[in-house]
Amino acid sequence: MAGHSTNKTTQVLGKAYPMTEHFYDVVVVGAGGAGLRATFGLAERGLKTACISKVFPTRSHTVAAQGGISAALGNMGADDWRWHMYDTVKGSDWLGDQDAIEFMVREAIPAIIELEHYGVPFSRTVDGKIYQRPFGGMTTEYGKGIAQRTCAAADRTGHAILHTLYQQALKHSAEFFIEYFVLDLIFDQQGVCRGVIAWNLDDGTIHQFRAHMVILATGGYGRAYFSCTSAHTCTGDGNAMVLRAGLPLQDMEFVQFHPTGIYGAGCLITEGVRGEGGYLTNSVGERFMERYAPAARDLASRDVVSRSMTIEIREGRGVGKLKDHIYLHLEHLDPKIIHERLPGIAETARVFAGVDVTREPIPVIPTCHYNMGGVPTNYRTEVVTLKDGNPDHVVSGLMAIGEAACVSVHGANRLGSNSLLDLVVFGRAAANRCAEIIRPNTPHPEITLQSMDMALTRLDYFRHAKGSVLPASLRLEMQRVMQNDCGVFRTGDILQNGIEKLKESWQKLQDVRVHDRSMVWNSDLVEVLELDNLLYQAIATITSAHRRQESRGAHAREDFPKRMDDQWLKHTIVWIDDQGQAKIDFRPVHLQPLSKDVQSFPPKARVY
Ligand code: FUM
Repeated sequence: MAGHSTNKTTQVLGKAYPMTEHFYDVVVVGAGGAGLRATFGLAERGLKTACISKVFPTRSHTVAAQGGISAALGNMGADDWRWHMYDTVKGSDWLGDQDAIEFMVREAIPAIIELEHYGVPFSRTVDGKIYQRPFGGMTTEYGKGIAQRTCAAADRTGHAILHTLYQQALKHSAEFFIEYFVLDLIFDQQGVCRGVIAWNLDDGTIHQFRAHMVILATGGYGRAYFSCTSAHTCTGDGNAMVLRAGLPLQDMEFVQFHPTGIYGAGCLITEGVRGEGGYLTNSVGERFMERYAPAARDLASRDVVSRSMTIEIREGRGVGKLKDHIYLHLEHLDPKIIHERLPGIAETARVFAGVDVTREPIPVIPTCHYNMGGVPTNYRTEVVTLKDGNPDHVVSGLMAIGEAACVSVHGANRLGSNSLLDLVVFGRAAANRCAEIIRPNTPHPEITLQSMDMALTRLDYFRHAKGSVLPASLRLEMQRVMQNDCGVFRTGDILQNGIEKLKESWQKLQDVRVHDRSMVWNSDLVEVLELDNLLYQAIATITSAHRRQESRGAHAREDFPKRMDDQWLKHTIVWIDDQGQAKIDFRPVHLQPLSKDVQSFPPKARVY
């Protein structure tokens, strides 16, 4: 079912912009795992759906996910979704919302079976079941044993899932607008989201997409950091649109550092390597994780492993000439296992580290990998905000899913393989919720074109920016501040220093220079718009990190080393105004599961 479109002209700053208007029931922004799962679910339910993406769908960053997707299938030993729930709550350092976590881990099992039926080529056990490997923090019997819970397609699980989801979307005739860059959300005077405004990179035209629901599936903002496992496209565009619309983001201080990014290159080496028996050593050849996490060792949760590695390096036990990284070994593994289960990382290590993994260790270092924070939503994926004393006020017309969202199932730290799960479970939930509340082909109310002025004014401003600052050098400056001042370990003074530097970066953005003034494939302009988006989120992150005076999950304050539930068991909410000023408030954590008969997990000490 096609959405209809009309051509109009709108005036911005006295200039006429030709604009095509499109009308859909739902518009999904982003075509990664979450966006595609939502898109075809919506099309399947008879809703006219457009999916808008700045890259070709199968180039979305989900394609880079390696190790797998979690679900308590019990194919390789006893398992239970309640154990998965406990692990996820503990992994989140109790900041995760337990209603959403219960929803995700219960839905995990049918979601994986559904993926299998859609055609995801999972690796298999000898008796033909989906192969499952151990992953960090995934246990049996509430922490007693190691669970094999992560369903894998070798070490290319994201690739397998993304391609399958795209094929499903094509099968259900969803409509794609590919290489369109969404500039901003459109809101009416009552604060209802009514659509988005986008720029077609191919021909330079401007498009207004009207919808009864906009679903943001725009991913994380790893590129705010200097060294990250994220694609160049991971600039969190949806998060920034939400901030520009005057709505808050949540828990932005919680940034995950994956223990095993390749030293110097940043490329991911999957946790699945340690799941298959790989281990870390320091300069004296010691398996140091035995000291930090005696039970789980190399399979402790990621924040724990990344901090342990950083301490080893700081205390002079790093490897290499500069003693500034750690070794990951898999040369002791049977080459058959590497060939069958880890072919991708063998190639990545060869290309990016010059290492033959069957003979020598891979040089690795904790690398920015995932944003636990994002757009606050409830478990139905509706965007929520704090309004008139209500911490769960639903913003009409707007949903968020995947890494862009903070639902919050990952709390202060995400467990590996829970993110692919989050994508498919909440992508599907968004489609189901839309089918409940939207009648197909409902007419769209008139809105004033004025509501698009902000987006077009910003575009026009940057397009004609003739200042003295080069976008690439400003981006590098911001990335270094985030890497150095808001990294694995933090202190109030260093964070404050970073805040001051980012204020300068914000000012410099007003003096930026864009060389190419055309509207067709202007990568210069795209990069400035992405940089603007990143800066909003960098300020939100570092300010939230400065405000939270405790250590929890991935947020490790050396000046406040303890978790302090009496003061800080709450979500941070942050707004950024158009001068780059942050405002902070808090929302309560949902400690109650969704179902009355499900046990909640009250906070306790977190040891692995
Ligand atoms: O290590 C990995 O394969 C990454 C998985 C994840 O972030 O979930």
